[in-house]
Amino acid sequence: MAEPCLVITVDGPGGSGKGTLARLLARRLGFHWLDSGSLYRVLALAALRRGVPLDDEQALAELARSLDVRFEATDKGEPRVLLDGEDVSRELRGEACGDAASRVAALPAVRAALLDRQRAFCKPPGLVADGRDMGTVVFPDAPVKIFLEADLEERARRRHKQLKDQGIDANLPDLLDELAKRDERDRNRPVAPLRPAPDATILDSTRMSIDEVLERALELVSRVQPQPR
Ligand code: DC
Repeated sequence: MAEPCLVITVDGPGGSGKGTLARLLARRLGFHWLDSGSLYRVLALAALRRGVPLDDEQALAELARSLDVRFEATDKGEPRVLLDGEDVSRELRGEACGDAASRVAALPAVRAALLDRQRAFCKPPGLVADGRDMGTVVFPDAPVKIFLEADLEERARRRHKQLKDQGIDANLPDLLDELAKRDERDRNRPVAPLRPAPDATILDSTRMSIDEVLERALELVSRVQPQPR
């Protein structure tokens, strides 16, 4: 019998802390990690580099199927993404890629093309998957679903700090504006819009530290799988 893979989904808007939470959870539980936003970002970057228009749905879906992308960890355990063998991790985090990713992510054929790639990350003992539709579309049967919220201003501040820490130039008012626009697009698209699954636990992290959020998440996981702590 195939070994089971326990899936924990972490969805939410940009800057809500879902990536940080998912990564810490995966490390703590010894699970694999899928940062699905990176897949959309890397597709957007490949399209920008190859001059594929961001509204050419069929060409983008074809590109999504043939994309040579690898997720690895550096010697220090930092995640990195390789596109055609080149480390593009830094470029992916910029708002240009974020904005382009949000555009290509609104196209149904693109989302369908990335579905199997995302599900293939599910390997024993388990997977923590973060994104927008992990609990609603990609892993609807996941036994633990978290939807992380935070006020827009707080999310913009966090994204600003994250980019600065990575040495990437960013301006707070512009970030706030871009996050608001991206939220609007992600929440209102007809296919796989950003919204909590009916069985998701909603956590508002605006006034919570990352340790508090992690504790709450571990508590939810322990209800389905008691973990040695
Ligand atoms: O989480 P992120 O900022 O890296 O995601 C970039 C964009 O990709 C985001 O604006 C929406 C899209 N996305 C999506 O539509 N579905 C996902 N599961 C993950 C990301």
